[in-house]
Amino acid sequence: MTIKDIITVPDETLKKISEPIEKVGVNETKLINDLFETMYKSKGIGLAAVQVGILKRILVIDVSNQDKKNEPMTFINPVIKKVSEETSIYEEGCLSIPDTFIEIERPKICEIEFIDIKGRIQNLKCDGLLSTCLQHEINHLDGKLIIDHLSKLKRDLIIKKISKLRKSPDRIIV
Ligand code: NI
Repeated sequence: MTIKDIITVPDETLKKISEPIEKVGVNETKLINDLFETMYKSKGIGLAAVQVGILKRILVIDVSNQDKKNEPMTFINPVIKKVSEETSIYEEGCLSIPDTFIEIERPKICEIEFIDIKGRIQNLKCDGLLSTCLQHEINHLDGKLIIDHLSKLKRDLIIKKISKLRKSPDRIIV
């Protein structure tokens, strides 16, 4: 398994629409393993392939307890079939937008159809953190980020701040 570099805003790849997977083969399985390794290393609870620069409709999630990460879930070509009218609000962060948290209101419950790692079609109804996380990740596959929920002015300020951080030569995280 390989830990991949996570791309961050303003990388234009993050705005692109990912392509559906036709067959879950060796390359896809390797990519999924790499995504999990990269996500766990970065202490995220979800990661989409586009965030490591690969425009495929694949995402991985583990919303289990922070200390013992043990519920890996893989979603290939996920499609939201139904959402509840009831909403919930979480303060969301994103591995592609460092040091930024935004309160976002989303449907509380969603029903999705996806392909699992064995290539089987599955349906899942989810609620709570999993529902929010899935909606966030599926947005990634369509080139949509949490900062797109903000006004252009606020969005530009955040991108400017992050671009500056990336240019700073002395900043290291070890
Ligand atoms: Ni994200």
